[in-house]
Amino acid sequence: MTPPPEANRPFGPGAQWLRVSGQRPEVEEGARLVIVGAGGHGRDVLDAAEADARYEVLGLVDDGTPDRALLERRGATFLGPLRVMEDLEAFYVLAIGAGGARQLVDQQLVSWGRHAGVVAHPSATFGADVIVHPGLVALAGARVTNHVWLGRNVHLNLNATAAHDVQLGDYATLNPGANVNGNATIGRGATIGSNASVNQGLAVGAGTYVGAGAVVVRDLGPGITAVGIPARPR
Ligand SMILES: CC(C)(COP(=O)(O)OP(=O)(O)OC[C@H]1O[C@@H](n2cnc3c(N)ncnc32)[C@H](O)[C@@H]1OP(=O)(O)O)[C@@H](O)C(=O)NCCC(=O)NCCS
Repeated sequence: MTPPPEANRPFGPGAQWLRVSGQRPEVEEGARLVIVGAGGHGRDVLDAAEADARYEVLGLVDDGTPDRALLERRGATFLGPLRVMEDLEAFYVLAIGAGGARQLVDQQLVSWGRHAGVVAHPSATFGADVIVHPGLVALAGARVTNHVWLGRNVHLNLNATAAHDVQLGDYATLNPGANVNGNATIGRGATIGSNASVNQGLAVGAGTYVGAGAVVVRDLGPGITAVGIPARPR
């Protein structure tokens, strides 16, 4: 699963992954960025993107009807529906909470030739030998220690942690304050709820949703919802 070694380098178009050690993933200074999803989570991602300050944030797109007044109050530009990305030369990050929906929108954008960028709030920390794939969003206080694998479009919300040797599959999500302990594996599209934790060495299956505050003490299979302490499928 580990790709060949490659030094830290800017995350340009076509980059499949990069390895970072003790620093945030590099991005192309001044590259243009669009945030896909203009709801509350979109504004959270915008906070991180603005604090990150390495991109020129063009604005946000959304197929729904976001609160444009809230966006205008902070000087953010609503660019329109997703399809504006078809002709817009810009990187994107997805401010979409659900991993499955994130994957569908990602596939659409890739089919239009767009490239996912990486947004990491300056207070997010990365240990040694962390593999990052396109689309990573790390909000304020997210912490990743060493030898962690972050799949495509992984989202690390506020104060979420992933400890040594953790693997987060493509489109996996750690909600605010979620803690994934050493050597645990979180499957593709799975979500760990706010303030939930996953004990060391366990596996959470693809698409599984761990409820807020749960403590995972046994492996969980794919496609289930598990809540409580200890976390049990319901
Ligand atoms: C687990 C979860 C997905 C279930 O959502 P849901 O399917 O809409 O569930 P409901 O609210 O209908 O609740 C169904 C039952 O599960 C219980 N339940 C729901 N979430 C629970 C949780 N986190 N822990 C314990 N019990 C929970 C409810 O009390 C209810 O029990 P009852 O049938 O005895 O009354 C959701 O409650 C949750 O925890 N989401 C994570 C929230 C989060 O992390 N938000 C951060 C966003 S950035």
